[in-house]
Amino acid sequence: MHILHVASEAYPFSRTGGLADVMAALPAELARMGHQASVLSPWYADIVGTPHEIWRGGNVRLGEINEGGVRFLFLETPAFKRPGIYHNNDVERFSAWGRLALPVLAAAGIRFDVLHGHDWAAGLVVAHAKLRHMPSVFTIHNLQYQGRWNIKDSFGWTGLPEWTETPEGVEFYGDLNLMKAGLVYAGHVTTVSPTYAKEITTPEFGEGLEGVLQDRLAEGKLSGVINGLDQERWNPRTDGHVLPYGTVAAKEANIAALREEFHLDEAPILSCVSRLATQKGLDILLSAMPEIVKKWNLVLLGSGDTQLETAFSVWAQSSPRVRHVKGMNESLSHRLYAGAHAFAMPSRFEPCGLSQMIALRYGTPPVARRTGGLADTVPGDIGFLFDDPTPAAFLEALGRAEAAVSKPKIWNARAKRGLPLDFSWKGPAKRYLEIYQQVAAE
Ligand code: ADP
Ligand code: GLC
Repeated sequence: MHILHVASEAYPFSRTGGLADVMAALPAELARMGHQASVLSPWYADIVGTPHEIWRGGNVRLGEINEGGVRFLFLETPAFKRPGIYHNNDVERFSAWGRLALPVLAAAGIRFDVLHGHDWAAGLVVAHAKLRHMPSVFTIHNLQYQGRWNIKDSFGWTGLPEWTETPEGVEFYGDLNLMKAGLVYAGHVTTVSPTYAKEITTPEFGEGLEGVLQDRLAEGKLSGVINGLDQERWNPRTDGHVLPYGTVAAKEANIAALREEFHLDEAPILSCVSRLATQKGLDILLSAMPEIVKKWNLVLLGSGDTQLETAFSVWAQSSPRVRHVKGMNESLSHRLYAGAHAFAMPSRFEPCGLSQMIALRYGTPPVARRTGGLADTVPGDIGFLFDDPTPAAFLEALGRAEAAVSKPKIWNARAKRGLPLDFSWKGPAKRYLEIYQQVAAE
């Protein structure tokens, strides 16, 4: 079977977070299972790598790079000839891009059996697939970003027929909603953990789309399939960025190295690698800072919301126990997973989350909120889980972590259970194949 994935990011070519990682690891697993897997993403001006041009028509071109058994395709349109992935005119950019995707692939002679779209940026491609009677699956990685714009101004960008401009179609409270296009027109909708699949059918997590999702669930067309992890890329024994280790005792060298690198004192180290967004509960972390610095060093890697960035930078300037590094830094992220005693992930919602899986395998127990994929992947006898999205609840869990860290035997016993955890893509990829076969047969 040939599966074509469509997404706005694919590692290592373009990346802001977990979606890109999934776009590398899931197709690679499908390829290992003997299927053909391709990934279509935009040809951004600053992608990592040089695609080889395979098709051109006017100011639109298609390039490819083959890597790890996967064919990565890059579609360039004029709006993508600038650096950076997301901009403030994204609905327009991705509408034009999504409208062209299938015609360009057809013109380039690329055929496939199932189209698998990911998140709002691929929603329109799924809608066009439906119009062409092509089997499709649509995966929600994050329901909060929907790709919305006033429908009067934007419908013309989509290339969709007028009958889709209704609440049963792509209209959402007077807006065009590209996420909704994916949800409504896909043969099957999935999201990236069983718990989030349940949560998004409720008003608390549904972002206004819970009604559409309840309908798809009632049809038997909404499933939760947990993400896997690229366990070769994230393996403390073979990781080229840290002092390699296979036991919790040997991890100590990484803790010492991190302490030295950031001039930290003897207090235990809490690390966090995250987009700075309210989704990630970093406002909760921020409110808890006065208490955290009494007992912990905190090293935070990540950028995003400017208010959060400023607030954490102010903390870093005023407290020797706080360090904040901005920007994407792959190598430092590995050192933070390896060199900390605990990993903070107080997410308000978390569709799946990859960071907690990495932290577990690096022997760094997560202090995490029991929601979405965190509830599904963090074992209670390793991590420190809490329920309420409040600084008090987070601090209570962090207090339990601190009590464990202060008794090395107890902390070791917890941390070491994480090292052998298996987050392989094998099971999830099999489940996707069943869904592909279902939609292809319909
Ligand atoms: P999300 O996709 O919602 O941001 P995930 O937990 O699914 O969250 O995936 C985040 C991925 O991005 C992890 O692999 C994490 O290590 C990585 N990441 C996040 N911020 C940074 C950063 N500043 N530098 C390097 N890697 C980062
Ligand atoms: C999104 C979600 C994250 C998930 C990732 C990959 O970015 O926020 O929870 O792990 O997609 O599916």
